Amino acid sequence: MSLAAEFTGIGPPRGAIKIDSLIVSFDGRRVAEDFDLATAPGEFVCLLGPSGCGKSTVLNAVAGFVRPTKGRILLDGVEVVAPGADRGMVFQQYSLFPWKTVLENVAFGPRMTGASRAPAYLKAREYIDLIGLTKFADAFPATLSGGMQQRVGIARALVNRPSVLLMDEPFGSLDAQNRRIMQREVRRIWEQTGRTILFVTHAIEEAVAIGTTLIMLSARPSRVRERIRNDGQMDRTKLIDDLNTMIMEEVERQQGRLDPAGGEAGDKPQPQGGS
Ligand SMILES: Nc1ncnc2c1ncn2[C@@H]1O[C@H](COP(=O)(O)OP(=O)(O)O)[C@@H](O)[C@H]1O
Ligand SMILES: [Mg+2]
Repeated sequence: MSLAAEFTGIGPPRGAIKIDSLIVSFDGRRVAEDFDLATAPGEFVCLLGPSGCGKSTVLNAVAGFVRPTKGRILLDGVEVVAPGADRGMVFQQYSLFPWKTVLENVAFGPRMTGASRAPAYLKAREYIDLIGLTKFADAFPATLSGGMQQRVGIARALVNRPSVLLMDEPFGSLDAQNRRIMQREVRRIWEQTGRTILFVTHAIEEAVAIGTTLIMLSARPSRVRERIRNDGQMDRTKLIDDLNTMIMEEVERQQGRLDPAGGEAGDKPQPQGGS
């Protein structure tokens, strides 16, 4: 079976996330509030927002690492109550096992869920091919570049055939050139697998380059400020400008320089179309 068929060929499309009136508080301090978001299967959703606004918290709540204080999160109609194999997580730190080869790292998930060695390795090799590291299957992580290690992290998440791929600023530690290469890679992998991707970044150009849906969050406590369809119809320079204006406003708001409700009258950018 081809990889695309493996993801999309069986049963109804998977990967619909619904976040309903989510509130997350830590020690009584709200980090997310009235947070609502629904995504369709196969969307590539980028969550944008100022540093510290609550992006990782929301992603971790979808992953099941953080419990909602109020509200709920559904994945394909099933409430998220704990981490699960239907959600694959890719972190900025590659979190690979340094003593295992690429092949062993990628085969680890299937092995953990009971696959015997030969089929687990066969499956792992498919995903190593997908991410373009066929020649490096027997290499150890320390001998690979940052971008290559990040590819292994993606393969390790995908091999469990998750309904959604959750990525938290995955390319934040790469240099500019590798970052652009990885952006193209993740976009290609998304096209080939049809996975829903929820991708956290504070880099506007990155989001515009890869996402089909751009979600601008507000200052902490975060909620969805704007949802923009990024289908190439909109003027790219203007889109980036508008998003920069929005994020600057939210940074200022978070630092307490704007009032919490809506900024000064007449100082708001025009609505961005799409919805
Ligand atoms: N487990 C936690 N306990 C207490 N505070 C937390 C915890 N996780 C995150 N926070 C706080 O929540 C806020 C939002 O954090 P985070 O979601 O990491 O923001 P972002 O990813 O947008 O930079 C920050 O003020 C952070 O210190
Ligand atoms: Mg974060």
